[in-house]
Amino acid sequence: MCSAAIYGTGAYVPHKTLTNEDFSRTLDTTDEWITTRTGIKERRIAAPDQATSDLCLHAARAALKDAGIAPRDLDLIIVGTITPDYPTPSTACILQQKLGLGDKTIPCFDLSAACSGFIYALTTASAYITAGLAARVLVVGSEATSRIVDYSDRRTCILFGDGAGAAVLGPPRTDGPSHKVLSTRLYADGNHAGLISIPAGGSARPASRETCDSKLHYIRLNGREVFRFGVIKVVEMIKDAMARHNLMPADVGAIIPHQANMRIIEAAVERLALPWDLFIINLQRYGNTSSASVPLALDEASRAGRLVKGKPVIMLAFGGGMTWASAVVEW
Ligand SMILES: CC(C)(COP(=O)(O)OP(=O)(O)OC[C@H]1O[C@@H](n2cnc3c(N)ncnc32)[C@H](O)[C@@H]1OP(=O)(O)O)[C@@H](O)C(=O)NCCC(=O)NCCS
Repeated sequence: MCSAAIYGTGAYVPHKTLTNEDFSRTLDTTDEWITTRTGIKERRIAAPDQATSDLCLHAARAALKDAGIAPRDLDLIIVGTITPDYPTPSTACILQQKLGLGDKTIPCFDLSAACSGFIYALTTASAYITAGLAARVLVVGSEATSRIVDYSDRRTCILFGDGAGAAVLGPPRTDGPSHKVLSTRLYADGNHAGLISIPAGGSARPASRETCDSKLHYIRLNGREVFRFGVIKVVEMIKDAMARHNLMPADVGAIIPHQANMRIIEAAVERLALPWDLFIINLQRYGNTSSASVPLALDEASRAGRLVKGKPVIMLAFGGGMTWASAVVEW
């Protein structure tokens, strides 16, 4: 059995920026309220002609370039998303075609784990590689959340943004840098399925005039409960990741939490008594980009030289399902 490693990363955000000030012109809200409650200052919004697969494509090309891998060498594509281009075909199949690999017949599939989607996909890719079922895997977390957000609902629309992050994985290599996946953990608790949901548009409540009129195709969340859940899981996952690798704070290279809310991260940092400078945070610029959140921050941190060679990077996320997940990668 071999293990898996990250060869390279990439990310993409659309050009259009929506600031807190922009919201204060159309909604009963202020920059001050949004900043103090969430830490978010602005987020990116996909152009009308950009679907999730288009965001994927940019991030995927950047990751392939960073990894020094040609698209044709891929043998599996996994896209974590809750905003697929269509219910079917999968966004991964569309990405395969956009990468010019339509004739290659490699397996491609989407994976739905909301904000934990990237770590779920990374774990799945690692399992394929470890089992010898794939040698070069493209993993993308990509969301056009702007397509599922009700911009008249001040409680939710301020939270989300669009973007994509990607990684190319394979067995640890000797012909270039690679970052070994030391461990991952995936969790879910369907008892809390109602905390974050899009009530209609699926088989339980297909799209109808009535569901559209009632705005049931937009994301809804119980902010307070999700907040509480997030703090508990962030603390639990960081403690668990450090314990399973016997890590003291000084051993950790960086911690990349899900970029949902600054107050969730602050509460966790306080409880764990960890140094702030370990944490990679970019939510002030992008908001919550769901499955793109962790890989976007990972790629930015990597390119900014914030990940220390040989030191473990702890990534963690939580989201709808409820799902939560962590990964430890030796950089
Ligand atoms: C959404 C969130 C920022 C709301 O903050 P909160 O402190 O819990 O606020 P509440 O929902 O209790 O609302 C408090 C008040 O602020 C109001 N409010 C909500 N959004 C507002 C906004 N954008 N601007 C101004 N006021 C707002 C509410 O209407 C409410 O007013 P009321 O008391 O008159 O009814 C916070 O709960 C949160 O971040 N939760 C986690 C969300 C998350 O991470 N989701 C993704 C997980 S993957």
